[in-house]
Amino acid sequence: MKTRDIQEAMAVDPIDLERRVKDMYKKVALQPEVTYHFEMGRELAESLGYPSKELDLIPKEAIESFAGVGYYFDFANLNKGEVVVDLGSGSGMDVFFAANQVGPSGEVIGIDMTEEQLQKSVKLGKDAGFKQLVFRKGYIEEVPVVSNCIDVVISNGVINLSSDKKRVFKEAARVLKEGGRLVLSDIVTEAKLPASISCNATLWAACIGGAMQVEDYKELIEEAGLKIMEVKENPYAFISSNAQGASKQYGIKSISLMAVKIA
Ligand SMILES: C[S@@+](CC[C@H](N)C(=O)[O-])C[C@H]1O[C@@H](n2cnc3c(N)ncnc32)[C@H](O)[C@@H]1O
Repeated sequence: MKTRDIQEAMAVDPIDLERRVKDMYKKVALQPEVTYHFEMGRELAESLGYPSKELDLIPKEAIESFAGVGYYFDFANLNKGEVVVDLGSGSGMDVFFAANQVGPSGEVIGIDMTEEQLQKSVKLGKDAGFKQLVFRKGYIEEVPVVSNCIDVVISNGVINLSSDKKRVFKEAARVLKEGGRLVLSDIVTEAKLPASISCNATLWAACIGGAMQVEDYKELIEEAGLKIMEVKENPYAFISSNAQGASKQYGIKSISLMAVKIA
């Protein structure tokens, strides 16, 4: 086992973490108007680069609960008819965004473990008349999708929350077709986080404690059988002064990347 894996395995109790993450994102689904330690909603989406005109085609309530950390659809380059899976789809903003790009001949599958997020996205999709959507309750460490059938796996601000990132990237690679793309935005760090931060489940649920050192993160993706083609930094900032302090000290930042499944 590499030091990187041991550190991750020891960092938090996965059951406690799941409870805290579900609790946090239940609130994000039901009470988007509350102030969290991170930004949310349309203003955030536009500041990250989501085109306003395309946001106008998405249910407003999905945008209100958007809690992503970057814009990666420029890397994703989605084509009509493609099949997409969103790992940690939340209230569904990226699912709807992707659905408009792949069109009625495509399909987008949103996966999330938090009941309230899932219910909200299902209702919004039905009300708005989207036909090319499927939402499944499940874990990103055990994606409820058969192998080798997906064109593009997307994920926004989610993988940092997982206590088993190695498994998440293996799952992404498993479900992708050969040549398929993994395109994501996530929180990573320049320096390895000390145990005082990485062992704190509250900070982990807040998208800080679980952030992995960027080179280790990229290594896990490549070890899963994906070749990284593009990486960029996103204009994302935490709100609370605690988070801003840690962010400065350890170089906590948001990146987007695109990787391709190789043979
Ligand atoms: C920061 S929010 C991002 C949601 C969405 N991608 C967005 O951009 O608004 C994280 C989401 O990931 C889900 N999540 C976190 N860990 C998960 C896991 N291990 N398996 C499935 N879903 C998870 C949470 O329930 C929550 O809805």
